[in-house]
Amino acid sequence: MEWFSDLYDEFRMRTGFGRVPAKQTRKDIDFICDVLELNEGDKVLDLFCGAGRHSRELARRGYLATGIDLNPNYLELAKQLCKETINTSNFILGDVRKIYYGKGYDAVIIMFQSFGYFSDVEDKLILRKAFKALKPRGRFFIEILNRDWILKNYLKDQDTKVDSIRVVEKRDFDILTSRNNFIIKRYEKDGVVTKSGSWRLYSAHEIKNILEDIGFRFIGGYSNFKKEPLRTDTRLMRMVFEK
Ligand SMILES: C[S@@+](CC[C@H](N)C(=O)[O-])C[C@H]1O[C@@H](n2cnc3c(N)ncnc32)[C@H](O)[C@@H]1O
Repeated sequence: MEWFSDLYDEFRMRTGFGRVPAKQTRKDIDFICDVLELNEGDKVLDLFCGAGRHSRELARRGYLATGIDLNPNYLELAKQLCKETINTSNFILGDVRKIYYGKGYDAVIIMFQSFGYFSDVEDKLILRKAFKALKPRGRFFIEILNRDWILKNYLKDQDTKVDSIRVVEKRDFDILTSRNNFIIKRYEKDGVVTKSGSWRLYSAHEIKNILEDIGFRFIGGYSNFKKEPLRTDTRLMRMVFEK
């Protein structure tokens, strides 16, 4: 099994993106609707959608949202939660590297540091597929941790308690590949669960160069919802491009 399929289990959802308050997701979508200049009924593709936080909120507001994710349990939950809203989203199970995205989207979004799992070639492939899936003038939004910030604040070892479970993470950054290689050990009641992986980290200029090479036009990069510009000490970058 590839590391990103193994990493995203029930614990990771419950203690990570599954724990984000609905109020925060609504703020994300307020911001996205603003910077992507979305109109009611627009088609939005949510890549790496998880349990569909953003797709569901988009659908609730009258957009046509489609989410793609590899994890069947997350998508099952997404579909269940959708039943509580008037408009439902469309959820597709699949690997974003292999699946056809469809076309004619007004926007494509990638939320919550869900980029950098694959080889550099495959990462670029995802972005090229996003480009193809968009209408002319369609917009692309990515929310991604800033490599510059991570390296300034890099912790090689971390020992914390998450939901009363001891979680020990050892990290090693490879300067030649810009990958954060990690091993996580969770000391659960019935034994130790080990997860490992290799996360490609990106700086703003690199994301911009890659997307411009594909054919996108850079619209803006933001440090926060007040639209302050990106800085080296921005932790979470939000970047907008147009086809
Ligand atoms: C950090 S979670 C983000 C979830 C969601 N965007 C959110 O903000 O709530 C990353 C997601 O990427 C999915 N994923 C990882 N590798 C994938 C792949 N190759 N194809 C599709 N989805 C993948 C995982 O299953 C997980 O749900």
